[in-house]
Amino acid sequence: GKGNYRHFMEKELHEHPAVLGDTLRQYLDPKTLEVRLPRLPFDPVRVPRLTISACGSAFIAGQVGRYWIEQLARLPVDADVASEFRYRDPPLAEGGAAILVSQSGETADTMAALKLLKHAGQKVLSVVNVPESSMARESDGAVLTVAGPEIGVASTKAFTAQLAVLACLAIGFGRARRELSTLDEGRLTQALLQVPSHAAEILEKDAQIRDLAAEVAKARDVLFLGRGSLYPIALEGALKLKEISYIHAEGYAAGEMKHGPIALIDNQVPVIALCPSGPLFEKTASNLQEAAARGGRIFAFTDADGAGPLSRFAERVIELPKVGAFSTPILYAIPVQLLAYHVAVLKGTDVDQPRNLAKSVTVE
Ligand code: F6R
Repeated sequence: GKGNYRHFMEKELHEHPAVLGDTLRQYLDPKTLEVRLPRLPFDPVRVPRLTISACGSAFIAGQVGRYWIEQLARLPVDADVASEFRYRDPPLAEGGAAILVSQSGETADTMAALKLLKHAGQKVLSVVNVPESSMARESDGAVLTVAGPEIGVASTKAFTAQLAVLACLAIGFGRARRELSTLDEGRLTQALLQVPSHAAEILEKDAQIRDLAAEVAKARDVLFLGRGSLYPIALEGALKLKEISYIHAEGYAAGEMKHGPIALIDNQVPVIALCPSGPLFEKTASNLQEAAARGGRIFAFTDADGAGPLSRFAERVIELPKVGAFSTPILYAIPVQLLAYHVAVLKGTDVDQPRNLAKSVTVE
């Protein structure tokens, strides 16, 4: 049941810390600070190229996975939504491998991508939440997310659990390929092991996020901006808002603003910025300042170091724990999902069963 929560989605949002802990404990050793992966169907050292494919939020997780794997393991990755991948007839590398991501393990397009990849001689690893699902059975190997049943149609905890698994895979591949030292591995796994408690801290910002939701609920259009591995999280914020509140939203790479979407900016369009301090901060902050200069209302998620500079032009700044760039996508996913949830509640939509959507899309 829902316990004391109004909706399954709310309950599942509050399960983030537990689910992240359960998933990370499966694949990280807190004592040695090493990644412990199950047997993989391919050797990450030998594989020339990886394909990542999935649908919806699972694909967004895959896009973050691409950033991580390319950065930490220096392994080239192609990422494509399954409905495109299956008809694109892409040239696949000899001896290549693929990672498919799915909560249900039953999504029709992702299943079709799986079959096609196997037929083309690629080794397929799936990241799935349902152990007895078709994808888990038919892949060459599966790594499970430990999210438990997800009832709300909009994915929440399964999404962050997918990120946790992909983060572990990226570290494991980086180690295997000798792109990461034992020291790097320790630093990264330690950062991941702190994610559950940071997730709990973020959930305590609920009241601030609810206040922000009151502003967002009045809008017809909303823009989400992020850079690097937070660009996919901007997409996740937009997808979730559209899906459950029926407000039109778009996620954009912050640097793409000036190539078109900035034309939309006026004081009617809230801009939700994912802008932690760190190497990409100045770049994103200057994109946001440009939007503010055109009348845009900037609502920023950042940390203690980003709050000062951003509050010079942002209407509202919500401070999240300060963490290294590596774990920001997992943590920043939580407030954007929570924001969508509160907007939907304010609008009175059917949060757990949004119109026209099914939990598992088993037809093409
Ligand atoms: C978004 C959402 C969907 C699913 C997508 C894939 O909140 O829930 O976009 O992520 O339908 O589903 P699975 O992961 O079951 O393959």
